[in-house]
Amino acid sequence: MRVVVIGGTGHVGTYMVPRLVNQGHDVVVVSRGQRKPYQSSRAWDRVSLVEIDRAVAEEAGDFGERIRRLEPDVAIDMICFTLESAQHLVEALRGRVQHFLHCGTIWAHGPSVIVPTTEEQARRAFGAYGIQKAAIEGYLLREARLSGFPATVLMPGHIVGPGWVPLNPAGHFNPAVFETLARGEELLLPNLGMETVHHVHADDIALAFLQAMAHWSTSVGQNFHVVSPAAITLRGYAEAVASWFGREARLRFLPWDEWVETVTPEEAQATWDHIAHSPNCSIAKAQRLINYQPRYSSLQAVQEAVTWLIEQERISA
Ligand SMILES: NC(=O)c1ccc[n+]([C@@H]2O[C@H](COP(=O)([O-])OP(=O)(O)OC[C@H]3O[C@@H](n4cnc5c(N)ncnc54)[C@H](OP(=O)(O)O)[C@@H]3O)[C@@H](O)[C@H]2O)c1
Repeated sequence: MRVVVIGGTGHVGTYMVPRLVNQGHDVVVVSRGQRKPYQSSRAWDRVSLVEIDRAVAEEAGDFGERIRRLEPDVAIDMICFTLESAQHLVEALRGRVQHFLHCGTIWAHGPSVIVPTTEEQARRAFGAYGIQKAAIEGYLLREARLSGFPATVLMPGHIVGPGWVPLNPAGHFNPAVFETLARGEELLLPNLGMETVHHVHADDIALAFLQAMAHWSTSVGQNFHVVSPAAITLRGYAEAVASWFGREARLRFLPWDEWVETVTPEEAQATWDHIAHSPNCSIAKAQRLINYQPRYSSLQAVQEAVTWLIEQERISA
C-alpha cells in the first residue's frame, strides 16, 4: 500500500512510520519539516518526506488536492482539528483512497456515565477541542455509512512515551511532581484523588492504526478507543510512582478551590481539563474487531517516560 501519513513525525508517527515501512508499505510523511521523530530508525531512510503546511494550504484551498496528488491508497490523518478541515480532505479523497484513518481522541466524550465508557455512549463533549473532534468523528462515520467513504476513527487517550513529559499524578504536566514523589515529599492532590486519567503508549496507538488497516472489513465505518487496558486514579498513580523509588506516597488532599491556589494557572487549567473528563474507556470493541492488544499498562507506559526524564536529567530522582 502507498500510505500517506499527515503529521507523521510526532508522538505517534515516531512509532507508526517505521512499523508501516517494516510491513513493506510505501510511506509518505507530510509535515512542515520542523519536527524530528523522537527515536531514530533506519526505516526513515525509506520514507518520502513532503513538506506542506496544512494551515497555509487550507487557507489557499489546495490542501486536499495536494494530498490527492500524492496518490495514497491509505491516508492517515494525525492532525485534523476542525470539521471544515475534515470535510475539505474527504471531498478531495472521495473515491481515491481505500482506507482513511483519522486520529480522534477520547475527549470526544464528555463526562462519563457508565464506566468503562464504550464508543457507543452518546457524545457529551465539552471544550472546543473535544467538541470539534466529536463533530469530525460523527461526520466521518456518517460519510462511511451513507456514501461508503472508507473512514475509521481511532480515539487515543493521553499519549505517553520516552521523549516528552507525561501527564502526571496531579493531572498536569509539571515534571517536578515526579521528583516530589521520588523524594518522598508531600504531594497535594485535588479532591479525594479519585478522579481518573487514561494513558496510552504511543507505540500502542501505532499498533492500533496498523491493526485497523489489517482488519479493513471490520474497521471501516467504526470508531475505536485506543487506550491502555485500564484507567488509573490520581491517587493510585501517585502511590505507584512513589513506590518505583522505594517510597510511600505522602499525599494530602485539598478541596478543588484550595488546591488551585497551590499551583500555577496553567497547571490548574490542565488538571481541570483532565479531571473534568476523568476518562475511563473500554477497549473491548477494539480488541474484538481489530484485535488491538496493547503492550503497555498505563503505569508501564508512564514508567518509560519517567525513566527518560531521569536519563535526560529533566528531573533528579
Ligand atoms: N497528545 C495527546 O495526549 C493526545 C490525546 C488524544 C488524542 N490526540 C490526538 O493525536 C493527534 C496528534 O498526534 P501526535 O501526538 O502524534 O502529533 P504531534 O506529536 O503533535 O505531532 C504533530 C505532527 O504534525 C506535524 N504538523 C504540525 N502542524 C502541522 C501543519 N500545520 N502542517 C503540516 N504538518 C504539521 C508535525 O510536524 P511539523 O511540526 O514538522 O510540521 C508532526 O509531524 C491529534 O489528532 C490529537 O487530537 C493527542
